[in-house]
Amino acid sequence: MFKVTLTSSGHQFPVAAGETVLEAAQRAGVALPYSCRAGVCGSCKATLLEGRCEYPRNPPAALSAEAQARHAVLLCQAVPVSDLLLEAREVTSVHHVARRQLDVVVTQKWRLAPDVIGLRLRPAAGEPRLRWLPGQYLDVLLEDGKRRPFSIANGAQAESAPPDGGPLHGMIELHVRHVAGGGFTSWVNDRLQVGDRLRIEGPLGTFVPREDSERPMIFMAGGTGFAPVKAIVEHFIGLGTRRPMQLYWGARSAADLYLRPLAERWAREHPNLRFHPVVSEPVPAAAADGLRFGLVHEALLQDQPDLTAHDLYMSGPPAMIEAGRRLFLAAGLPESRLYYDSFEYAPDVLAQILAARAGLNPV
Ligand SMILES: Cc1cc2nc3c(=O)[nH]c(=O)nc-3n(C[C@H](O)[C@H](O)[C@H](O)COP(=O)(O)OP(=O)(O)OC[C@H]3O[C@@H](n4cnc5c(N)ncnc54)[C@H](O)[C@@H]3O)c2cc1C
Ligand code: FES
Repeated sequence: MFKVTLTSSGHQFPVAAGETVLEAAQRAGVALPYSCRAGVCGSCKATLLEGRCEYPRNPPAALSAEAQARHAVLLCQAVPVSDLLLEAREVTSVHHVARRQLDVVVTQKWRLAPDVIGLRLRPAAGEPRLRWLPGQYLDVLLEDGKRRPFSIANGAQAESAPPDGGPLHGMIELHVRHVAGGGFTSWVNDRLQVGDRLRIEGPLGTFVPREDSERPMIFMAGGTGFAPVKAIVEHFIGLGTRRPMQLYWGARSAADLYLRPLAERWAREHPNLRFHPVVSEPVPAAAADGLRFGLVHEALLQDQPDLTAHDLYMSGPPAMIEAGRRLFLAAGLPESRLYYDSFEYAPDVLAQILAARAGLNPV
């Protein structure tokens, strides 16, 4: 059993044999940032000041050789082989939100876009409702022990919501993109029906609103990355924030911006919020109708070349997140003010893909 000490807070916690730093921190109630839990997205990056760790599960794909030379470590994969002293950010707001498993029932299923299904889930009879922070995600637990992560597109109901409900009480909204060749999302697309039960675990993740700031906020979503961004923007709107908010939403085509009217309504009703829809497939000028053409992170940088004064939230496909991370930091955004969820595949699939890439286990 080794001990981890965090320099920022002085928090200390034990790590059992074979456990990752992130798993041990979660067991000890210490909230460290993470997203993919597979070593790919980089959001759990920390700096190792003393001690040694190894990566017996997945290789630390999100760390460049340069980052490793600067003693960066990935907490979701790092298994200590000595006591550790770490410099890591903590996300104190998620401390008090307990994670648990529960059965839910599908109450609504509808098509949001050609390849996106909207789902509404409510706790099955006898299950207490789930609590979460806007932007967090849940895992759908599959029968074979695998998990599939999906962001919750709405905020948990206010504490003052009537206990007996109304139809939306305790409701969880998901936006599920059908991945070609994907087992679970194909099943959702083709077979899942209203009334079916799912087992879920949540809330998970640290992509949550940061309220200890007065800085202007930029939100960038790619495709169904709009789901957690929607929950966070709605949260700030609900708080009545006066901080300027710029929302960039990118997708292939106009049809993929599946809740564009909602974002346009936010912009109409809130003078501090501006909405920028961006599509990557060319649109004839006559049909452009307020759409910008190009890649969403490039549109953002055209408008905001200097990001030194902003907080930036982004979520969506890994390629967009990776490009955004690199370019936004180069545009002056401090890494500590960049919050993101990268929509990687589930850890079991990524582990197989990474192992195949390393030639360990051809698939
Ligand atoms: C924090 C987080 C939040 C997310 N939120 C959302 C969300 O709100 N909405 C959303 O739409 N998505 C979201 N995602 C992504 C979503 O979890 C994945 O799209 C989903 O897990 C795919 O599941 P699946 O079973 O359909 O596909 P999988 O069966 O997992 O397959 C995924 C892809 O990998 C390929 N594949 C499978 N196994 C292998 C292998 N061994 N080797 C090579 N290729 C393989 C498949 O052919 C397919 O193309 C999120 C991801 C994360 C990490
Ligand atoms: S790399 Fe650790 S959470 Fe993604």
